[in-house]
Amino acid sequence: MAKSPHMSRNDFVKGVVGIIGTIMGIVIGLPAIGYILSPALKTQTSDAWIPLGPLENYPVGTPTPFSFTRSKVAGWQKTTNSYGVYVLRKTEADTTVFSNICTHLSCRVIWHEDIAQYVCPCHDGHFAKTGAIVSGPQPRPLDTYENKVEDGNLFIHFVEG
Ligand code: FES
Repeated sequence: MAKSPHMSRNDFVKGVVGIIGTIMGIVIGLPAIGYILSPALKTQTSDAWIPLGPLENYPVGTPTPFSFTRSKVAGWQKTTNSYGVYVLRKTEADTTVFSNICTHLSCRVIWHEDIAQYVCPCHDGHFAKTGAIVSGPQPRPLDTYENKVEDGNLFIHFVEG
C-alpha cells in the first residue's frame, strides 16, 4: 500500500508540540539571558548630590574636612572610591567646598592651621585658604564643588569623572 502524501495525525501532533516547546523555551529563556547579561550592560550614573550634614557643624572661617565614598559599577566589576573635601564657610551664608585633590598630580592636600594653607605633601604645593595657588608646581587653584543648603543641611553636587 502506498504512503499517503498527507501528514499523519501523529506527525501533526509531534509538529505542534515541537513548535509550542520552542516558543515556551524562548519565552522562558530570554529573561534569563537578559538577567545574566544585564550587569555587563549597566551604566551607573555618577552624578549626585552628596549630603555633608548640618551646615552648623562647620565653623565659620576654618576649613573643615569631610570624606565620603562612592561605588561605581562597570559590568561585573564594582569599585569603591573615597573622596575628601574641605568645607569653608567664609560667612554665615557664603560657603565654598574644595576638593582635597591637588591639581598637580592628584595627591591629597592637608589643611595646616598654623600657616593657614593647604599643603600637598607630594611636591610641596601650597594653596591659600581660598584655594588659590601660593607656591608649587600645581597649574590651577583647588577645584570646588557646587553646593546648596536645604533645611539647614549642606549638599555638594558630585560628578565622577
Ligand atoms: S601632586 Fe600636589 S604638588 Fe604635585
